[in-house]
Amino acid sequence: MIAGMGVAIPANVLTNADLERMIDTSDAWIRERTGIEKRHIIEEGRYTSDLCAEAGRNALADAGLAVDTVDLICVATVTGDMAFPSTACIVQEKLGARNASALDIAAACSGFLYALSWADAMIALGRARTVLVIGGETLSRVTDYQDRTTAVLFGDGAGAVLLQPSDGMRGVIDTYLRSDGRFGHLLRIDGLGTKIPSSHESVDRRDQFIKMEGREVFKQAVTAMGDAAETILQRNGLDGSDIDLLIPHQANLRIIDATAKRVNIPPERVFVNIDQYGNTSAASIPIALEEARRTGRLQPGGLALMVAFGSGFTWASALVRF
Ligand code: ACO
Repeated sequence: MIAGMGVAIPANVLTNADLERMIDTSDAWIRERTGIEKRHIIEEGRYTSDLCAEAGRNALADAGLAVDTVDLICVATVTGDMAFPSTACIVQEKLGARNASALDIAAACSGFLYALSWADAMIALGRARTVLVIGGETLSRVTDYQDRTTAVLFGDGAGAVLLQPSDGMRGVIDTYLRSDGRFGHLLRIDGLGTKIPSSHESVDRRDQFIKMEGREVFKQAVTAMGDAAETILQRNGLDGSDIDLLIPHQANLRIIDATAKRVNIPPERVFVNIDQYGNTSAASIPIALEEARRTGRLQPGGLALMVAFGSGFTWASALVRF
């Protein structure tokens, strides 16, 4: 069950009006094509691990648990502080979580649901009891602010949940994970790995930034998120009317609307905050989850359906009772 939740949102804001001054775009285009109004951008001198540690600390405080109870830390991120050590180990150090093991999970925008699934399985196997599952990203550091097709989309943030064994009623009911590596080229960062070591040439080519075939990604995201939502409902004998709140990955308002329609969930039972944060990749679902609870959209006993799609391609869904 989810014993606590926390978020970390940088104070700096980048609005559509700011972007209008930087690139050839307009507030109207961004709102209409994506639903985004602003995004939060991490401050100089802070890193993904700082956001993740802050979100983790807030989740522990929310649960009223001491940090030494945590026996596993899973950080979902594709914008970790460095190649190694893992961001999860850096977070462990920042939290002082001495009794935990720690690892990163890289599944882009589906990362939080992959991490949740992993954490749930470790608990079910009896290998862990208190798991900090964190999705955290600083996409502003890998966004090309000269490329208008991606510059408007991404933001920074982190969200964390503290997962413990189910009390019989509440907890993770099911998770569904898929990937298809044939489509990796459609959404990628060529550099920052060992294939293309950083050089003057790689920097001149802007290999350190996100490249995306937006239209193709959009089409596949609509199909895959619909499939993931439908599959997990069907295999649990449920339909859209059983779901109290759909919490989709916040990549594009039109993708969210299409996913909700596919499983017949009306807008009043769909959580949307893309207008405030943009696409925060692995952080988007845990940030939305915390906000849904804080604003009373998700009540104790409520059934949430979460669904995501990201680079890889990866896609995933989860059913969780609160
Ligand atoms: N401002 C103004 N015009 C723009 C902008 C912009 N910021 N960006 C693109 N355009 C133009 C294009 O150049 C194009 O012009 P043209 O017709 O003269 O060639 C026109 O707008 C339409 O471009 P499209 O790419 O067809 O626009 P689309 O409606 O597909 O929206 C978007 C683009 C928002 C990127 C959309 O494709 C999308 O959301 N894709 C999916 C993103 C996603 O879900 N990513 C998955 C997860 S991310 C992760 O894993 C890290």
